[in-house]
Amino acid sequence: MSDILGQLDERRAQARLGGGEKRIESQHAKGKLTARERLELLLDPGSFEEFDMFVKHRSTDFGMEKNHIAGDGVVTGWGTINGRKTFVFAQDFTVFGGSLSETHARKICKVQEMAMKQGAPIIGLQDSGGARIQEGVAALAGYTDVFQNNILASGVVPQISVIMGPSAGGAVYSPALTDFIFMVRDSSYMFLTGPDVLKTVTNEIVTAEELGGAKTHTTKSSVADGAFDNDMEALAEIRRLFDFLPLNNREGSPERPFFDKHDRLDESLDTLVPDNPNIPYDMKELVEKIGDEGDFFEIQRDFAKNMLTGFIRLEGRTVGVIGNQPMVLAGCIDSDASRKAARFVRFCDCFEIPILTLVDVPGFLPGTSQEFGGVIKHGAKLLYAYGEATVPKVTVITRKAYGGAYCVMAPKHLRGDINYAWPTAQIAVMGAKGAVEILHRKDLGDADKIAEHTADYEEKFLSPFRAAERGYIDEVIQPRSTRKRVARAFALTRDKQLSNPWKKHGNLPL
Ligand code: HXC
Repeated sequence: MSDILGQLDERRAQARLGGGEKRIESQHAKGKLTARERLELLLDPGSFEEFDMFVKHRSTDFGMEKNHIAGDGVVTGWGTINGRKTFVFAQDFTVFGGSLSETHARKICKVQEMAMKQGAPIIGLQDSGGARIQEGVAALAGYTDVFQNNILASGVVPQISVIMGPSAGGAVYSPALTDFIFMVRDSSYMFLTGPDVLKTVTNEIVTAEELGGAKTHTTKSSVADGAFDNDMEALAEIRRLFDFLPLNNREGSPERPFFDKHDRLDESLDTLVPDNPNIPYDMKELVEKIGDEGDFFEIQRDFAKNMLTGFIRLEGRTVGVIGNQPMVLAGCIDSDASRKAARFVRFCDCFEIPILTLVDVPGFLPGTSQEFGGVIKHGAKLLYAYGEATVPKVTVITRKAYGGAYCVMAPKHLRGDINYAWPTAQIAVMGAKGAVEILHRKDLGDADKIAEHTADYEEKFLSPFRAAERGYIDEVIQPRSTRKRVARAFALTRDKQLSNPWKKHGNLPL
């Protein structure tokens, strides 16, 4: 009997070695942890339950029938993060380069299906040479099964991908179908076609890092939502993000203990908006001063910086924040900012996370590059996302809310629940200069008259009161009281009931 029990331990020890000591050393030499080391850091100590540790591939070509490694290049199972359950898979680069075979895919599909059934998120740690070359179409079929499950799980449980090594070819599409992608700087890359193919086909010479490294995907392509310096930092930050997320689409925002007064006043906010409307200020300061303990998990920090997106907590509950950033492009909305914010709004809405919108926007960014790039359609994505969202929506206009950008940034008319404005708000079709030039073209040569018209326009329109008179703003509030007012607004709307007309699904302007 003890022999049989001992055999299990031996088999487990063998499986845990993956591709063997030499390949583990080589993984460490690249500054990367192994799949199991990564899971240990990601999950609460001792919480990991592994599945399918002894699964082997079924391939018989190219001598593979003599080359079996238990687990087949991916470690799967479930565990907890700060006591909340999650399903996980971590590709093991030491086993056939983490490449995906039919059985490797089956293991991933199993945890994806369990995640949907049990209502828990799924976190995938990707480190793979792509489709297992020796398996041909069976590997492609496996990939596609994983993609199908990614699609079915979308909006049911949060899906997070962390790219911790190569992710090339069609392999990139599983992460791309998930809610968030994070990368590790200098050791991960994602591309459809690699540098060698590019050299032959398009004559372009680029390194893997330039083509698909963390910098490229967080600043240029926006494929990735964030990047971290090493495996350890990445896994610690994923734990932090996880704490903000609901487990599924039914349970609502998680609630955590908080140590900040809900009615904390912050006098410094009274002077956040400069007297000169053309001088920028940092909207992030407002976000951090509203949220519990100043904790803000920013999403896509390095892309479309004119729009802020991320998570805070109010009275311990997660809130998604979208804010114009006057420090970049004066806070104008462009195509990139529209796409970034629209995707974030939709994430929040499908997982019942309330949305706080902070508005200071002089309009959509003008220019041929924007028009030719389809800003109409991209802006419509944001409009659609806000208009479709049924979660509690609270908006604060701090300064400018001009023109189409007013219509897009969660106004009352897109079913905003509570819409506040600071006394410094200016809600109008456009700024004074542009308006006067159009309305009083005949007086353009007369500086005194233009000054008079401008003062008149500013007096009439560049305040929150015209909008407040019509009920488009529920209340004009003191900046210092923003946290308190916003927290009360979300407390009020906690049990909100709103649904959209029945449909199979809408037709988001993609
Ligand atoms: C089988 C693979 C493999 C693969 C790597 N290995 N990729 N085995 N199928 N796709 C194995 C290697 O043979 C090697 O085995 C071990 O993994 C480590 O690989 P190295 O090349 O030594 O490592 P490194 O120098 O770090 O290079 C990593 C790499 C390179 C850049 C990922 O291995 C590589 O280019 N691999 C092929 C990438 C690729 O073209 N994949 C197919 C993409 S198309 P040993 O035994 O020596 O340790 C695709 C289609 C998907 O994925 C479509 C889905 C719709």
